[in-house]
Amino acid sequence: MKRVAILISGGGSNMVRLVESMTGEHPARTVIVGSNDPDAGGLAKAAAMGVPTFAVDHRAYKGDRAAFEAALLEPLLAAEPDILCLAGFMRILTPAFVQRFEGRMLNIHPSLLPKYPGLHTHRRAIEAGDAEAGASVHLVTSELDAGPILGQARVPVLAGDTADTLAARVLVQEHRLYPEVLRRFARGDMTPVRLSAA
Ligand code: GRF
Repeated sequence: MKRVAILISGGGSNMVRLVESMTGEHPARTVIVGSNDPDAGGLAKAAAMGVPTFAVDHRAYKGDRAAFEAALLEPLLAAEPDILCLAGFMRILTPAFVQRFEGRMLNIHPSLLPKYPGLHTHRRAIEAGDAEAGASVHLVTSELDAGPILGQARVPVLAGDTADTLAARVLVQEHRLYPEVLRRFARGDMTPVRLSAA
């Protein structure tokens, strides 16, 4: 049984779907949910699902990224995760941290990578006049939003879309994509998952 840790920064809607997916025949279980924000709404959701949680407030380590990561690593490593899933985690991790989880750290990014790494992905897709948008799950490497793609979900960009309406449409697909990618990854299957809006 693979042990999965999930890191969040906010509401954790992707984390909730991941935790809910790891039941029955699924080859993985969630062992801990952590956050860089003690007020992250997702922490209460994880606790309500019976998952141990922790928070390390990055603001307490102002500017000292290495010290923050050392504090984050302690409860994380204590849970002995096999796989680390970033789900709405909004801190950039140093290469030293990434290397500890190289090849077993996943992230979901709200664009069809390699398009639009970084922030404000939906606004950028709309401004570019793209017909399609979506989300990608990828292995995390030290280059931001650039690791091997494990899955993508596509949605149409509709006339009149705002960043919010597009984000809402993409989020529905994220909630389908991430659990499916993790299920395969936990079985050692790296075949990319390709979804399009139902
Ligand atoms: C989602 O758009 C996800 O793509 C990005 O963070 C946003 C919020 O995710 N990584 P969640 O609801 O906190 O899972």
